[in-house]
Parts: sequence; structure tokens; C-alpha cells
Amino acid sequence: MKDYKIVAIVGATGAQGGGLARAILADPESGFAVRALTRRPESGAACALAALGAEIVAADLDRAETLRPAFDGAHAAFCVTNFWEHHSPERELAQAASMAQAAKDAGVAHVIWSTLEDARLSVPLESGQMPTLMGHYKVPHFDAKGEANAEFSNRHLPVTFLLTSYYWDNFINFPGMGLTRGADGILTLRLPMGDKKLPGIAAEDIGRCAYGILRAGRRYVGQTVGIAGEHLTGVELASGLSRALGQQVRYTDVPPEVYRTFDFPGAPDLSNMFQFKRDFQDLFCEARSVELSRQLNPRLQTFDRWAAENKSRISLE
Ligand SMILES: NC(=O)c1ccc[n+]([C@@H]2O[C@H](COP(=O)([O-])OP(=O)(O)OC[C@H]3O[C@@H](n4cnc5c(N)ncnc54)[C@H](OP(=O)(O)O)[C@@H]3O)[C@@H](O)[C@H]2O)c1
Repeated sequence: MKDYKIVAIVGATGAQGGGLARAILADPESGFAVRALTRRPESGAACALAALGAEIVAADLDRAETLRPAFDGAHAAFCVTNFWEHHSPERELAQAASMAQAAKDAGVAHVIWSTLEDARLSVPLESGQMPTLMGHYKVPHFDAKGEANAEFSNRHLPVTFLLTSYYWDNFINFPGMGLTRGADGILTLRLPMGDKKLPGIAAEDIGRCAYGILRAGRRYVGQTVGIAGEHLTGVELASGLSRALGQQVRYTDVPPEVYRTFDFPGAPDLSNMFQFKRDFQDLFCEARSVELSRQLNPRLQTFDRWAAENKSRISLE
């Protein structure tokens, strides 16, 4: 393995990092070796990666001292945080800072930071366009990631900022995002998106695009790369779901002020997120090129393809 370039992957047991790990491990010509970072080396997800040929290394983003050894000797690092585990933007920022410092100390040649926009650059905190949350944020799980970009750039790291998109997999496994049945029995997709387009992606394709970035060498170092599988309106998403499920799915535009009252964790944060995407559609869509995503990942799935393959798993709440 000594000629292989090691890619240290945070979140390798999850969706984004897992997609990257599997993409590398499935390609015998990759020239990369996977080092999967996890808090639970004995977990089923870690063992599955080990069975595919990954090196498993224990590391915890909340214990900065575990990261430097985990990044040591790595050519590249894929860095991601999981806001939804703790709902704390401050913790996400601290985790990003720890990863950036460890990457600097270890001399990693290429860092991919999985990020999102800081909505406060478009909607200042004092704006009444949407409520301020947790005292300092408009879209907490976006803002902290965007703010954390500086942790990488201020350390002059060779970084690619990877702007991700809404996972279509949320229809399967994100609490509150499944389809509901209306009073008339018709399946309903409720989103506060008006008639605007929502960039979306199959979660597995995020890591595959990250692999494309790594394969391109230094080409995307210092750049922001936005990815999406398709940009679709609520009506178009509902049509795709109808085709896949073989029954009518109706799109209902829910006002953000109603969506934020829905009874699932993070509803106010997600309501502001959708409103941000709705109100700044051009900015948000232009930052995410489907064409570039397909160049990076020729297997990029369309929504129809994703829905057909996952129709039995879509959550009908
Ligand atoms: N859902 C969406 O539509 C969407 C869209 C764009 C961006 N995002 C962002 O994606 C992020 C989550 O990524 P994901 O979906 O790939 O996550 P995921 O599938 O839920 O898995 C979480 C991963 O993070 C790792 N992790 C969490 N805390 C850790 C810690 N303290 N130390 C080390 N590893 C830790 C876990 O590893 P172990 O448990 O094995 O340690 C696991 O691999 C969130 O921040 C979210 O905001 C989501």
C-alpha cells in the first residue's frame, strides 16, 4: 500500500464520507487508500468498510488530540460535521476548527470541506425576513458551516469548499420530511419552496463528486465546487415521486411560518433553510452546477433514477 495516497475520511461511516470511501474502494485504479475515521471502530458500518479494504482509525471531532494522528501521513482529508447529532452551531464550528488545525499540522496536501452558505451574508441578523434562531443565526446548520470556511482559509490550507445540496434521501430517513397523506387520502409533499427550484442530490453522489475532485489533482484546490443532481420545483419532485410510486403525489406549498411550527426536531432551522433557498433561488442554484457534478461523477443520478431505485424506502408518514 505504500505507493497509495491515503485519503483520511471523516464521516466515512455516514452518507457523505461513506460515498467517498465506497467510490475509492470500488475503483482498483484509484491510486488512493481509504482511512476511515470513526468514534466506533467496531460498528457495523466501520466493519463493512474494513471488509472493502479500508483502514479504520478511531478519532473524535470533539477530542482534537485524536485528529492529528488520524490525519498523519494522509495526502487528503475529507472533512464533514454532523449538525443533526447535537444541533449546536458552536460545536460544529469548534469541530471544523479542530479538523483544519489537524490538517495543517499533518501537512495534508488537499482538504475537502463539506460546507454550506452562511445565510447571514444574504439575510442579515437584523432583517425581519426570517426569525433569528439561537440568538446568532438565520439558518444555524448552514451558517456555522459557512462561518467555518474561514477556519480553513485563514490557515492557508489547500482546500476545496464543497457546497452540497438537499439529499433526496431525506424523503426516506429525515424526521418530518417524508410524504404525508392528505384528508382526501392523496400522498402529499409539503415544502415551503413556492414555485422555486430546490437543488437536490442522491446522498451517495456527494462522495462520488468528492472523489472526482480528488482525481482532478490540484485543479479544484482553492475553489468552491457546488454540486447537485438536478434543480427541481416542488411540482417536479412530486411528479417524479408519482411516477416512481405509481400513485398521485401532490405538492403543497407550506408557508415558512407554518412549516416552522411542524412537530419535528429542527423545524424552525429547516423552515428558514427552505425560505433562504426559495428567496435566493438564483444565487443558490447558480452555485450548484449539475453539469460540473456530472463531469466529476459520470454516474450522477437524476431524481427519476433515484426515486425508482428507492421507491420502497420512501417514508409515508
Ligand atoms: N440531509 C441533507 O439534505 C443535507 C444536505 C447537505 C448537507 N447536510 C449536512 O450533512 C451533515 C451530515 O453528514 P452525513 O449526512 O454524511 O452524516 P450521517 O450519515 O448522519 O453520519 C454522520 C457521520 O459523522 C460522523 N461523526 C459525527 N460526529 C462525529 C464526531 N464527534 N467524531 C467523529 N465522527 C463523527 C459519524 O461517525 P461515527 O458515528 O462512526 O463516529 C458518521 O460517519 C450535516 O451536518 C448536515 O447539515 C445534510
